Amino acid sequence: MKAVVFHGVGDARVDDVPEPKLEEQNDAIVRITTAAICGTDLHFVRGTVPNMKPGTILGHEAVGVVEEVGRGVRNFTPGDRVLLSAVLGCGSCTNCRRGHFAQCNVINPRGPRATTAFYGAPAETGPFDGLQAEYARVPYAQTNLFHLPDSMSDDKAIPLSDIYPTGYFGAVIAEVSDSDVVAVFGCGPVGQFAILSAFQRGAGRVLAVDGHPYRLERAQALGAEAINFNEEDPVEALLDLTRGVGPDRVIDAVGVDAESPKAGPAAAKARREDDLYRDELHEIAPETNQQDERWKPGHAPTLAHSWAVDSIAKAGTLGVIGVYPPTDRFFPIGTAMNKNLRINMGNGDHPRYIPKLLDMVKSGVVDPEEVLTQHEPLRDILAAYKEFDLRSPGWLKVAVNPRS
Ligand SMILES: NC(=O)c1ccc[n+]([C@@H]2O[C@H](COP(=O)([O-])OP(=O)(O)OC[C@H]3O[C@@H](n4cnc5c(N)ncnc54)[C@H](O)[C@@H]3O)[C@@H](O)[C@H]2O)c1
Ligand SMILES: [Zn+2]
Ligand SMILES: [Zn+2]
Repeated sequence: MKAVVFHGVGDARVDDVPEPKLEEQNDAIVRITTAAICGTDLHFVRGTVPNMKPGTILGHEAVGVVEEVGRGVRNFTPGDRVLLSAVLGCGSCTNCRRGHFAQCNVINPRGPRATTAFYGAPAETGPFDGLQAEYARVPYAQTNLFHLPDSMSDDKAIPLSDIYPTGYFGAVIAEVSDSDVVAVFGCGPVGQFAILSAFQRGAGRVLAVDGHPYRLERAQALGAEAINFNEEDPVEALLDLTRGVGPDRVIDAVGVDAESPKAGPAAAKARREDDLYRDELHEIAPETNQQDERWKPGHAPTLAHSWAVDSIAKAGTLGVIGVYPPTDRFFPIGTAMNKNLRINMGNGDHPRYIPKLLDMVKSGVVDPEEVLTQHEPLRDILAAYKEFDLRSPGWLKVAVNPRS
């Protein structure tokens, strides 16, 4: 079958690989009908989340049809249309039972203290082969697959695989509740769903920060107030817009590939920190492989959460859903400590939230399909990776057809 395979930093290819087979009694084999590219995939290829094993199939977002199930899987049969949860849990261990699926004690073959298991990710996450492929093996399928009604198109369902539950998880861990003033850093696909979810959880105002006008326009369409960090200093703007108090709740939906401002008043400030950012980047991502503007790591890996900590109201809550690798040790703990912040972070506990969000999409309350700006065949996926990597105007979220 065809699949997108990680060969090294800066080197992803479409290869012919063997089809997956059932390996454990709780496995299912799914024929993928729609996959997607995520900002997380970019970290891996850029090298800013290191330690990918060459040969791993990339991708962790998909919708498909069940082909085959192991004898331990009693709730799915061949032919069922399914959504695949990007984050994997066993559904039975003590952590899964408490809803902490991303910290399952069982599913990661590296043992009970190993990190979040998900598809197409660094060695320490399993690794499990990913979903930018014609077929995939789903471990603990009874927990990590969800039935889709025939009436729901792949396009409506695919955001439920990762970006919507991640954004929702961001609003939950940032403790967003009625009338809160919320800031969301990053208006990529995940940030868009963080904005939507903050409103769903009762936010009074949502202030959205990014440097790309087309992404900010989308945020505005959801009701957010836009702040372009290439035009104004985002910390000052957040204070100005909140009577000098700052937002109560802040969600970091940027992660390690944060960019620094290229123009405006924040650019000069960021330039003075250039040496610091360079040193941090070197320690966080010892191996990068930039090719012209392609696979270029974000230049200021600590900037988004530094702005978040600087702008947030005293005694506020910061929720970090942007991904940072274990090599990153540069959080501004001193400022955070002296503001009595609560800080929650992590990989989303997707199987906990997918059923509720799926119901919202089924009932028409939310139409997540609007985030998809491109549909590409697998044969063109590397070109699509490039546009998404460059954040080219109009390229917000790419859906991929693995069979064309
Ligand atoms: N925690 C989880 O479970 C989980 C799941 C999925 C994705 N993620 C992570 O969420 C993050 C966003 O994913 P995405 O798919 O939306 O990626 P993306 O790269 O499309 O989005 C990142 C956005 O942040 C903006 N940005 C860059 N520097 C910034 C800065 N200094 N301040 C404010 N905004 C800035 C970019 O312009 C871009 O729009 C990534 O780190 C991804 O790995 C986490
Ligand atoms: Zn994703
Ligand atoms: Zn578990």
